[in-house]
Amino acid sequence: MIRLSDRQSDSLELLDDFAPSTSPHLPGWKILIVDDDVEIHSVTRYALTDYAFQGQGVAVTSLYSARETREILPAIPDVAVILLDVVMETADAGLRLVEYIRNTLDNQFVRIILRTGQPGEAPEFEVIRKYDINDYKSKTELTNTKLLTAITSSLRSFSDIMEIEHYRQHLQHLVEERTRQLHKQNEELVALNAEKNEFLGIAAHDLKNPLSGIKSLSEMLLYSADDLTDAYRQEFLHQILASSERMFELITNLLDVNAIEQQGIALSIVRLDSVPIVRMICDMYNTRAEAKQIRVLTEAPPEALVHADELAMQQVIDNIVSNAVKYSPHGKNITVRITQNSTTVRIAVQDEGPGLSEEDKTKLFGKFARLSARPTGGEHSTGLGLSIVKKMVEAMNGKVWCESELGKGACFIVELPRAE
Ligand SMILES: Nc1ncnc2c1ncn2[C@@H]1O[C@H](COP(=O)(O)OP(=O)(O)OP(=O)(O)O)[C@@H](O)[C@H]1O
Ligand SMILES: [Mg+2]
Repeated sequence: MIRLSDRQSDSLELLDDFAPSTSPHLPGWKILIVDDDVEIHSVTRYALTDYAFQGQGVAVTSLYSARETREILPAIPDVAVILLDVVMETADAGLRLVEYIRNTLDNQFVRIILRTGQPGEAPEFEVIRKYDINDYKSKTELTNTKLLTAITSSLRSFSDIMEIEHYRQHLQHLVEERTRQLHKQNEELVALNAEKNEFLGIAAHDLKNPLSGIKSLSEMLLYSADDLTDAYRQEFLHQILASSERMFELITNLLDVNAIEQQGIALSIVRLDSVPIVRMICDMYNTRAEAKQIRVLTEAPPEALVHADELAMQQVIDNIVSNAVKYSPHGKNITVRITQNSTTVRIAVQDEGPGLSEEDKTKLFGKFARLSARPTGGEHSTGLGLSIVKKMVEAMNGKVWCESELGKGACFIVELPRAE
C-alpha cells in the first residue's frame, strides 16, 4: 500500500483540478481520480509526481463522488484514464458511473481502473467485460509500482485506441469525400445522359421529316415519272435538295456542338479588324434577304481591331445576322453597329422583329432553344445556333447577350477584347 509517509507530504498541494504534476514533462494525459477517500487522492497524485508516458506527463483531476463526476465528464471527452472507486455515495456508485460513461456519454475510449477498499464486493467478470473495464484492483494491493504499471498499461491502450480512432476518422473522411465525389459525378452523368437522350430525340425527329419527304418525292420521281410534267419534276428535285440541305445543316450543327463539348474549341486568336468581316456578312445577307425585302444596314468606324479567331468570329456574326433575317417580318430593317471603347469592341445586331419575352430570354442560349419567334420565310430552325455562338464568344474571352422587349425588336450584342 502506498503511504503518505513513504514520500514527502507536500504532494497534497497538487489537488487542484488538472494541476500539472511536478514532472518536467508537459502535462498531456488527463487522469481522473474519483474516490470519496481524500487520502487516496493524495497518495495517487504523489505516486504520479514524476510520471511520464511517451514523453508526456499527466494532468490529474480529483473528484469525490459519482454525481460530481457525471457533471464534469461531458466537458472532458479526451480524458485518458479514470481511477474509480466502487463504493461512494452508494455501494455500486462506481459501477453505475461506468455504465453512464459507456452507454450515456458513449465514451468507449477512456480506460477505467476500478479500485475498491472493501474486499469482497468485486464486480462480476461479466460487468468488467460488458463495460470494458481495464483493470480491477483492491486498494490494499495497490503499491506504488502496481499503480504505475496499471496506469502505464491503460495509457498504452488509450494511446493505441486513439491512434486507431485517428486512422478510422481519416479513413472515414476519405470515404465520405470519395462518396461525395461519386455522388456528384453520378448526378452529372444522369444529367448528361438525359441531355444526350433529348439531343438524340430532337435530332431524330428533325431528320425524320426531311428524310420522309425525300423518300416520297424520290418514289414519285421513280415510279410515276411518266405522269409528271417537267415543272413538277424540277420542283420535286428542288424540294429534295432543300430537304438534304436542312439535314446537312442539322448534322453540321450537331457535330459543332459535339466537337465543342468533347474537345473544347481550338481557336487561333489573332489581332484582326472586325469591320471587313461584318461588312462581308451583311452584304451576303443583303442579297439573301432580298426575297423578304429586308435591308441589312451597317454603321461602323473605319477600323475596329479585336483579339479573335477569324473563322469563329465569322460564324458568330453569321448566326446572329441570320437570326435577325430569319425572324424579322418582310420589309423591316436590320442595323449592324460596331462601337468601341478603350478595352472592348461591340458588335450590335438590331432588328425590328417580334423581340423576346422574359421567359424566352432565359432559354435563348441553351441547346435546342426553339422559342416563340418562328421563321418568317420558311427557313429552317434547329435551335442550336445561339448555343454555339455563346460557346465561341466565351472561348474568345468575350460576352454575348440580348436586349429585347417583346414586340419591340431584339438587339444581340457581341463584345470582344479590343486590340491596339
Ligand atoms: N433576332 C431574334 N428575334 C426573335 N427571336 C429570336 C431571334 N434570334 C433567335 N430567336 C429565337 O431564339 C431561338 C434560338 O435561336 P438559335 O439561333 O439558337 O436557333 P435557330 O435559329 O432556331 O436555329 P439554328 O440552329 O439554325 O440557328 C430561335 O428559335 C428563335 O425563336
Ligand atoms: Mg439561329
